[in-house]
Amino acid sequence: MRLAKFLAHAGVASRRGAEEIIRAGRVTIADKIVTDPARDVDADSGVAVDGRYLEGPEERMVFVLNKPVGVLSTAADTHGRRTVVDLVPSRGARLYPVGRLDADSCGLILVTNDGDLAQRLTHPSFEVPRTYRATVRPVPVSEHALRTLREGVELDDGRTAPAKVRQLRPGVLEITIHEGRNHQVKRMCEAVGHRVNTLQRVRFGPLRLDDLPEGAHRRLKGAEVEGLRKA
Ligand code: URA
Repeated sequence: MRLAKFLAHAGVASRRGAEEIIRAGRVTIADKIVTDPARDVDADSGVAVDGRYLEGPEERMVFVLNKPVGVLSTAADTHGRRTVVDLVPSRGARLYPVGRLDADSCGLILVTNDGDLAQRLTHPSFEVPRTYRATVRPVPVSEHALRTLREGVELDDGRTAPAKVRQLRPGVLEITIHEGRNHQVKRMCEAVGHRVNTLQRVRFGPLRLDDLPEGAHRRLKGAEVEGLRKA
């Protein structure tokens, strides 16, 4: 197996993250630094990261978490603030979030040690649909603004792809996008003259937040993980 894939399967990082770790000279095979992510290895090769030996593949786990406002969607925070990974029992596994939700957003986020799956789900070419519920000001949002949001708005990093947008009640929008740009929903709403007050992700691919309480998580079943892989 390629070294980068081996590290991803061992839960070290996503495959792309593993390649960076390897290129940075942090990986040894039988105590010799190796910087080629394509090197062929197996569980007996003596692979170590930062001097710590890795065993074979770690059991893969995928959790869905209802992120509260104020919790960061990074694996670790240098200022010791609470992250999504702190809210899920890792049982020794190295977990990290799939994609990002802003600190002041809440709702559905996946946390996993499955680097391949994480990379797949966040890669722009897979276009996994994400649905958000946004409360905006001023109220209501005009038909014209809704149509503009649906057709695509011009942002400083380019025009957004067509989106599904409904006004559930005055000032409450349900928006489904297939891209994962930074602050995308907030920027889209701002582009049509509305400020987002609260933002919750209610759906990611085939998964729904449903009645998972705020701050709670559940581990996905095998069939749900397969559904995500096909998303
Ligand atoms: N769009 C945003 O603006 N923020 C998020 O957290 C997610 C999508």
